[in-house]
Amino acid sequence: MKLEWSHTVLNIKDSVKILQFYTKTLGFNLSDRGPLAENGPEIIFVSQDSDEHHQLAFIVGREDVDKSTSLNHLSFRVKTFDEVYEVKERLDSADVEYLPLCHGNALSLYFNDPEGNGIEVFFDTPWDVAQPQGVVWDTSLTEKEALEWVERTFEKEPTFAKREESAREFVNRK
Ligand SMILES: [Fe+2]
Repeated sequence: MKLEWSHTVLNIKDSVKILQFYTKTLGFNLSDRGPLAENGPEIIFVSQDSDEHHQLAFIVGREDVDKSTSLNHLSFRVKTFDEVYEVKERLDSADVEYLPLCHGNALSLYFNDPEGNGIEVFFDTPWDVAQPQGVVWDTSLTEKEALEWVERTFEKEPTFAKREESAREFVNRK
């Protein structure tokens, strides 16, 4: 048996703000929306993956966005460094603050959606290193400069290695 991750559903309060953020700033597409049952709350489905009807769904009816939830963050991978930069620029134009954090194996941006749900967008570096790790990185660097910085910053870690050469064993790795 293998459970493959499909989607996450968030309870939300303001569907206009949330949809604006997830579609305009983060680039999700609206798949469907409608009431969950007769007179039930609305559910809104979004996706960026043609194989997933929804990667995220929002159920409108969260009462108090100030209350903390058990969700720490949702995380999304981008395939290129340029896309991390594009997300950074989109966050800048939407006036969304972010924390650029490098885990050695990833260059990440952490930020919140309009209702305080944590989000990470990350780009895999060519390296593997035991986790957790976290060092703030400079988003003004080019890809080449950023990767050189990652190597300099993490190479002293005993487990630091090229991804394909890493001898580290962890769950699900053959
Ligand atoms: Fe994460």
